[in-house]
Amino acid sequence: MNIVQIETKPYDGQKPGTSGLRKAVKVFQQQNYTENFVQAILSAVQPSAVGSTLVVGGDGRYYGPEVVDLIIKIAAANGVKKLIVGLKSILSTPAVSCIIRKYKATGGIVLTASHNPGGPNNDFGIKYNTSNGGPAPESVTNAIYELSKTITSYKIIPDLKCSIDYCGHQYFKVDDKEFEVEVIDPVSDYLQLMKSIFDFDAIRKLIKGSDNKPPFNILIDSMNGVTGPYVKKIFIDELGAPSNNAVNIIPLSDFGGLHPDPNLTYADALVKALQNGTYDLGAAFDGDGDRNMILGKKAFFINPSDSLAVLANNLDCIPYFIKNGVKGFARSMPTGAAIDRVAAKLGKELFEVPTGWKFFGNLMDVGRLSLCGEESFGTGSDHIREKDGIWAVLAWLSVIANVNESVETILTKHWKTFGRNYFTRYDYENCESEPCNQMMVDLEKNVTDPSVIGQKFTSGQKVYILKQADNFEYCDPIDKSVTIKQGIRVLFEDGSRFVFRLSGTGSSGATIRLYAESYEPPSSNILEDAQVALKPLVQIALEISKLPQFTGRNAPTVIT
Ligand code: G1P
Ligand code: ZN
Repeated sequence: MNIVQIETKPYDGQKPGTSGLRKAVKVFQQQNYTENFVQAILSAVQPSAVGSTLVVGGDGRYYGPEVVDLIIKIAAANGVKKLIVGLKSILSTPAVSCIIRKYKATGGIVLTASHNPGGPNNDFGIKYNTSNGGPAPESVTNAIYELSKTITSYKIIPDLKCSIDYCGHQYFKVDDKEFEVEVIDPVSDYLQLMKSIFDFDAIRKLIKGSDNKPPFNILIDSMNGVTGPYVKKIFIDELGAPSNNAVNIIPLSDFGGLHPDPNLTYADALVKALQNGTYDLGAAFDGDGDRNMILGKKAFFINPSDSLAVLANNLDCIPYFIKNGVKGFARSMPTGAAIDRVAAKLGKELFEVPTGWKFFGNLMDVGRLSLCGEESFGTGSDHIREKDGIWAVLAWLSVIANVNESVETILTKHWKTFGRNYFTRYDYENCESEPCNQMMVDLEKNVTDPSVIGQKFTSGQKVYILKQADNFEYCDPIDKSVTIKQGIRVLFEDGSRFVFRLSGTGSSGATIRLYAESYEPPSSNILEDAQVALKPLVQIALEISKLPQFTGRNAPTVIT
């Protein structure tokens, strides 16, 4: 097989964001654009690329199979020893993490733009994960970016023909060395891992009903993303849910036109299906299967920050944690602080990290972190190094099977014990970049001016006194790397706070995220609608930031 060196020119803007490089498909389709980035990844992980084993797969979106083919040809030319590829390019993000760890691979390349819409006119993405199974840290993504800026050629074997449409081993001779591609069933390793973590018998009993207990009726929506085959195998074949209790379970390259993001706006079909009370629990996942939204009967919404806290308080319902013990907990900075109260009660360490799953990996690797999450519908544990949507649903089902109560009762009891951290997030999507950047600069300047400390802000009946403000900075306790400018936090005397961040996952324009949180103790008003409870605080955040003036927006595109 002939290795060919192709001349190329660098492209601007191949800088990985919160979670890999995400751009429009059309951008990736430009001549050598994808090839450059794949070569930059392989060069950045040198010398380990030579003789290495990489896992490759993605969420089934448009352009995935073509890119897998390119990766096979480029990896072979770069001395990679083996690729483990998901059948027909399919692997959920949690499955990639599981497979890298299980087979002790050097790393993996995940082809996904997560919850961004797919299809020829939408987004594609490429993300590199390291040998711990987690997203590459910034030291690696920066190295990839630097190489992408100076690349002059890439290596490829154009004649290498490898099918990913059937499982099995294929061997090729490259430079007198053997290059192997193993195409695997996307589900079986992940299923085995789930079986080792959870008590499948107990969950099956819950779902099917037993003795005098009626079946626990679940509805799972894969939103035409990658989780379909996993959902079918796990919830229907293994756990006995009726087959029509899982919908949209065939992965489609354009997600059937859906925006595969499991929140109240984009998963509204699930919300509607649950409203009449037929189902006891509903769940939806995003395109690549790492996010989850969980609803109780009659579409009772569990805020992800609360979901995390409830799980933290009930880990003794899950065999994995009984066996391994519970180390610390963590959340991203903007995530509601409900879990902090559980950590305090249980005497566990609690870490507050910047947005993005990559910041949890080091803490897990040294054995200080068991459970973590983000307000953006991400929940997971140290069983892998990615957040894990299906894991989260199995965790909730384990808790329900154990405590024998409804989702709503579990949550209400939690608030009655710990008090309630009201939380909401407003997203202003697809704004113009320049005014948003300016808004952030002005806001930081204004709120960090010493003269505003102690200033009173009034909205309706509420008065908030500004206590402290900063742009969040994080020093990783393990590798001591420092990450700056992770969101402007404004804290008030009563413990309320709001945070502004610019999204790092969009493919064009800017998205502003506004996070607001306030706390009510158990004896106080814990059953209010979160939007009502937080309205005054949001009002003040909008006033202080002058968001409507900067963006021309009077309302967010998504409210969580
Ligand atoms: C968003 C979420 C963040 C999550 C990331 C990847 O990033 O806010 O919590 O880790 O997607 O799923 P953002 O667009 O805010 O940078
Ligand atoms: Zn995702």
